[in-house]
Amino acid sequence: MKKITIAIDGYSSTGKSTVAKMLAKELNYIYVDTGAMYRAVTLYAMRKLFIKEGYFDKEALVRHLFMVNVKFALNADTGLGEVLLNSENVEREIRTLEVSNFVSQVAAVPEVRKLLVMQQHEMGKDKGIVMDGRDIGTVVFPDAELKVFMTATAEERARRRFEELQQKGEDVTYEAVLENVQKRDELDTTRKDSPLKQAEDAILLDNTHTNIEDQFHILLQLAKDRI
Ligand code: C5P
Repeated sequence: MKKITIAIDGYSSTGKSTVAKMLAKELNYIYVDTGAMYRAVTLYAMRKLFIKEGYFDKEALVRHLFMVNVKFALNADTGLGEVLLNSENVEREIRTLEVSNFVSQVAAVPEVRKLLVMQQHEMGKDKGIVMDGRDIGTVVFPDAELKVFMTATAEERARRRFEELQQKGEDVTYEAVLENVQKRDELDTTRKDSPLKQAEDAILLDNTHTNIEDQFHILLQLAKDRI
């Protein structure tokens, strides 16, 4: 059977990764969460104190980029990739609200994007991949056979994210999560390098009122139509 490239872009907390993972599993494709890669670089910058509240030393981060190694390792129990930052599994640390609060600034640095996009090209060179992010259909794989752009209201996305963080035991308020979601929307859509936008040939999926199962079936059908 023909293997294709599936690009899933969209706003933060639209549930992109949940459906992308389901799709990859069903099709026996590789799944790559590119947001996790930007989050890992952000965690590195935070640990080195290159970024903190009201301060970002971009030059220092760019100078140290050659020392940043981001990879995925397969978790045998879940069958999913987990992010390694310089060989350390940081899958849990990169999901905190603190990392979310800094990641869009780090993701706006062209040198960071260049490095990660290069790795993403390499991961997708044989197709048979579902990649989610912000610029997959526009920049990383503009020739992807299937492009989906996911959106939902900021309030609904914040509600989902808030529940997820609460379940993980993070001490956060709904208001703080909503503020983060709105701030990231603003930064991600207005940055100069690879801003978040729907590719002309992407299919728009507003999932404010659609559950995960239904989204999965819609995407699976779209993929099957192209295989
Ligand atoms: O997908 P996730 O919400 O984990 O992504 C975190 C952040 O990483 C986004 O808000 C965005 O700033 C950045 N990102 C990006 N390009 C991608 C994936 C994520 O700029 N392809």
